[in-house]
Formats: sequence, structure tokens, C-alpha cells
Amino acid sequence: TGNSVKLNNGILIPEIGLGTWKADKTGIVAETIKNAVEAGYRHIDCAKIYGNQREIGQALKEVNVPRKDLFIVSKIYQNKHRPELVEGALDEILEELQLDYLDMLLMHWPYALKPEVGTADFNDEDIEDVPVMDTWKAMEALVDKGKVRAIGVSNFNKAVLEKMLPQCRIVPATNQVEIHPYNQSPELVKFCQDSGILVTGYCPLGGTKINVMGDNLIKHIAQAHVCTPAQVALSWSLSRGIAVIPKSTNAIRLKQNLHRVTLTSDEKRMIGNIKQHERKVDPSRDHEQLRWVFHEDEAQCPVI
Ligand code: A2P
Repeated sequence: TGNSVKLNNGILIPEIGLGTWKADKTGIVAETIKNAVEAGYRHIDCAKIYGNQREIGQALKEVNVPRKDLFIVSKIYQNKHRPELVEGALDEILEELQLDYLDMLLMHWPYALKPEVGTADFNDEDIEDVPVMDTWKAMEALVDKGKVRAIGVSNFNKAVLEKMLPQCRIVPATNQVEIHPYNQSPELVKFCQDSGILVTGYCPLGGTKINVMGDNLIKHIAQAHVCTPAQVALSWSLSRGIAVIPKSTNAIRLKQNLHRVTLTSDEKRMIGNIKQHERKVDPSRDHEQLRWVFHEDEAQCPVI
């Protein structure tokens, strides 16, 4: 079932997890979960906004693995950042997943939306100011209550983390961000790792639109190892100490993605020198006020 790495609170997390974003067609996600657990996946990355947690929960009941051997992550949506809403948001997630605790709860984004906004599509006026630390303190209380074993963040940039960390009683266990050979983010990765925060890479294969798996260098290295470009991309992130959550709904590719290859230092250096920069996810494409999230140099972070 692959390697596990230690989080800053001593808890172990499998370094390869299953991503479930957009694996939402009825029946498909349940089948995927069952195939994944069968293949050896124990870490499942979920989120309220993916809209498929109930089906995932049902499938998890049907797999023959004790709860304690699974590592289940979910994320609270931005409409639940007001501190008085945080515990209820977790309770809803637990109810959907049919679990009585989570291994890790993440703050999905560093900005808040008004409570009545429940979908991934929102208007500029739906964004509201809730200081990140207010939400974070409410998440810390959930650890004290034993409802989550670890807490973390997602899509946090270095400037936000720098302001946040001195105020945290519990340092985030992970920062889940988009990482692949076309979005390497070396400064952020170094900052997180120096601060004891595990970087978890989402879209580690570049997803469907970014041509990481078609990159000539990646393909060339794959040939040398008699493996697939996907395995090269995942192994490269793992070699940087980054956990990965590739998504596949195909049983063969699910298995393949669990198999790490050992890249030479030359190969790692060459991938590190790739000059393409492409991000799949960037909320500022639709909302100019969110430019600060991924373009730190150009805008001010709001109050943390
Ligand atoms: P499929 O579900 O048909 O396997 P990411 O995790 O970066 O978002 O990428 C997910 C995309 O990559 C999905 O479209 C998935 O398609 C595809 N994919 C996942 N694993 C592999 C693989 N080993 N080889 C090729 N494509 C893959």
C-alpha cells in the first residue's frame, strides 16, 4: 500500500492518495473507490464542494478495510469560514461520508464566501471578509474535541502562511496546492517544508488540459525507465518530499499510479529546469479580487 510519511503531529499519512474531484458521475466514484482500495490506496482526498461524498461514504462502508487503516481527508467550503459555522460544516461532511471522525480536515481556500453561497460558481459580491485565523481557531477546536486527527490548509501562498504561522496554536499539517512539472512552486514548497508543513500536490499529472504527460522530456525519461509519463510525474513530486493525490477512474491506471520509480539526480534536475508554467486552477481568472491568492507580488493579502 505504499509509503507513509509523518505529519508534524506524529500521525502517518500515505504519500499517495486518491483524488476525487470531478469523479462525480453516479456509480463511477463508488466503483473507483472500491478499485482504489483494492489496488492499495488508503488515503482518499475528498471535499464538500465535489458533491460526491455520500457516494464515497457508501463505497467506503463496502470495502473490507478497517476504518483505522484508512486516511480520509476532506475540506470545508468557503461558505463555512465564519467560526460559528465550522463545526457544523465538519458535522455535515462526517454525515455525508458516514464517518465519526476525519483523519484530516483542510480549509479549502484562504478566502471566505457568504454562507448562502453553496456552489462552486459564485459572484464577486459573494466574497466576504472572514479572517483566516478566525476559521483556523475554530478548526483547532475540532482537534481538541477529537473529531479530526489533523488540520491543514489548501491553496495557501507563502505570504498568507508567513502571517498565519506565528498565530497558530496548531501548525497546519499540510498545505495542499497544485503541483506538477509545469507548476513547480519551489519557493512555496521550500517554505512549507522548512516550516514542517507537508506539501500535498493536487493535479499532480497536470489534469486533462496541461500537457505534462505529453511533455517530450517526461516521455523520454519514461522510456528510459520503461514506465509511463504519469509515473515519472508522480515520482518526481514524491522525490521532492511532496505527497500526491492523482485521480483516475481506470482500474489499471489506478494501480500504475501507486508504483513509484527512482529518478536519477540528472533526471530530477532536468525536470526541475522545465520552463513551462501553467496552472489548472486559478480563481482570479473569474474574480479579480482574488488575484492575491496566486499572484502574491501583485496584490495585498487581506487580514489574516
Ligand atoms: P482517467 O481517469 O481516465 O485515468 P490529475 O490527477 O492530475 O487531475 O489527472 C487526472 C487525469 O489524468 C484524468 O483525466 C485521468 O484519466 C488521467 N490519468 C490518471 N492516471 C493516468 C495515467 N497513469 N496515465 C494517463 N492518464 C492518467
